[in-house]
Amino acid sequence: MARKPDTRTLGKFSGKLLLVGAGKMGQAMLDGWLARGLDPRRLMVIEPQPHKSIRALTRRGLTLNARGKAVEASAIVVAVKPQTAVEAVPPLAAHVGKGTLVLSIMAGRTIRFLAEKLPPGTAIVRAMPNTPAAIGRGITVAVANANVSARQRKLAADLLAATGKVEWVDDEDLLDAVTALSGSGPAYIFLLSEAMTKAGVATGLPAALAERLARETVAGSGELLHRSALDAATLRQNVTSPGGTTAAALEVLMGPRGFDALLTKAIAAATRRSKQLAG
Ligand SMILES: NC(=O)c1ccc[n+]([C@@H]2O[C@H](COP(=O)([O-])OP(=O)(O)OC[C@H]3O[C@@H](n4cnc5c(N)ncnc54)[C@H](OP(=O)(O)O)[C@@H]3O)[C@@H](O)[C@H]2O)c1
Repeated sequence: MARKPDTRTLGKFSGKLLLVGAGKMGQAMLDGWLARGLDPRRLMVIEPQPHKSIRALTRRGLTLNARGKAVEASAIVVAVKPQTAVEAVPPLAAHVGKGTLVLSIMAGRTIRFLAEKLPPGTAIVRAMPNTPAAIGRGITVAVANANVSARQRKLAADLLAATGKVEWVDDEDLLDAVTALSGSGPAYIFLLSEAMTKAGVATGLPAALAERLARETVAGSGELLHRSALDAATLRQNVTSPGGTTAAALEVLMGPRGFDALLTKAIAAATRRSKQLAG
């Protein structure tokens, strides 16, 4: 997807970067890296069904599904589905050298799981992105193991920043709650748009108009929140006159069975599920 590069942080990257799995997320990252100045000659990709844009990059030096002697990588980004990890991760050991960083975005696959399949002492960063990464507006939370150097942490941050903002935590256990909040979060926002559409129809609006109004209200408000220096509560208060229409709705939404209670319950359920899936 086209996007304006805001930095060239990867222009000076001089090692080899191996991307394993170029599906939706891997492709979004790759697009972001190129937009940030990464030379395609630095890139190696392992992907059974590469998109034609990746095939095209082989003409600019990208190595696709290389056979033969494994090349040591400065960084390996693992973006296959978690269920594929058992077969996809062990062969990566052949690309791991002393200075290699392994960066995984697989949901639920722990640092311990990866460490068990890679050479002892491997530097590993586990990260949880979300779908707005596809338009460079994601947010990713990352956690590093003790083998990750400051330089590797900076490289991980640069690689992840290509699809949006990056936050670091020290405690890997927090990734279950992160998954529940920002990982799964885009679905809650899409559901909000669906629910607003249905509610609009219930009050008499034509369905197509209700859908457009809900979609643009969710998208525009998200953009306003993104651009504003004010926090969400202040933006909400700014559009709420005492005794007005917004106040009437908020009385319901902020009531005992409103948004707060519902989202607390929903995010707790997602956190529990994330823990179960991680086994
Ligand atoms: N999408 C999200 O919102 C999101 C959010 C947070 C984290 N994640 C994580 O990101 C990862 C990727 O998700 P995605 O949505 O991008 O999935 P995806 O579109 O299915 O991409 C995975 C890609 O890996 C390829 N692949 C399968 N086996 C492989 C192997 N052995 N070696 C190399 N490539 C292989 C798949 O090819 P085939 O199709 O041929 O199998 C597919 O193109 C997942 O682990 C997921 O948990 C995703």
